[in-house]
Amino acid sequence: MGNHTWDNKEIFDFIDDEPRIIRPANFPPGTPGRGYTVVKGGGKELAIVNLQGRTFLPAIDCPFRAADDIVDELRKKHKHILVDFHAEATSEKIAMGWHLDGRASIVVGTHTHVQSNDDTILPQGTAYQTDAGMVGPYEGVLGMQKEAVLQKFQTQLPVRFQVDMGKWHFHAISVELDDSNGKARKIQKIRLKEDEWRMD
Ligand SMILES: [Fe+2]
Repeated sequence: MGNHTWDNKEIFDFIDDEPRIIRPANFPPGTPGRGYTVVKGGGKELAIVNLQGRTFLPAIDCPFRAADDIVDELRKKHKHILVDFHAEATSEKIAMGWHLDGRASIVVGTHTHVQSNDDTILPQGTAYQTDAGMVGPYEGVLGMQKEAVLQKFQTQLPVRFQVDMGKWHFHAISVELDDSNGKARKIQKIRLKEDEWRMD
């Protein structure tokens, strides 16, 4: 959920009862919801952790220390661990990749909506990409209608943003993990555009 977790107040009605939703694990102790979950399917399981950066975002608890606590605890029971680091600064995300190399199977950034071109496997076996990108319309600005965003930048007045309804693109990563040790064998970024996509 990252930094938009509390955008709609209705979330307080169900976030404690919905194990599929995770919010940043480095919110202060006592915050509703949970910072990680375990998903199962096809006889496999994947632990997923959400952390939020502090550079150009609210100064919450240290994501690196939270990563230490949670990832090391999860490793006692789970081989496959994905850390979604929701952060603005590329430097903070790259640092987290190094911090968790060999401890998490995958460290992938989110939040910028712009897919980075640095998918790699780090020396200790962690698949890493600075930002996965987005799924949604690409003719606006980060999914919002461009006219309103341009008006906001030029006037600095409050403007209501609307989701752009134009052509879509789909960004993702696909990672192959080794069942025996949880390390990554292969990472591939996926980038599809409405006009260029064929389902052959
Ligand atoms: Fe975000």
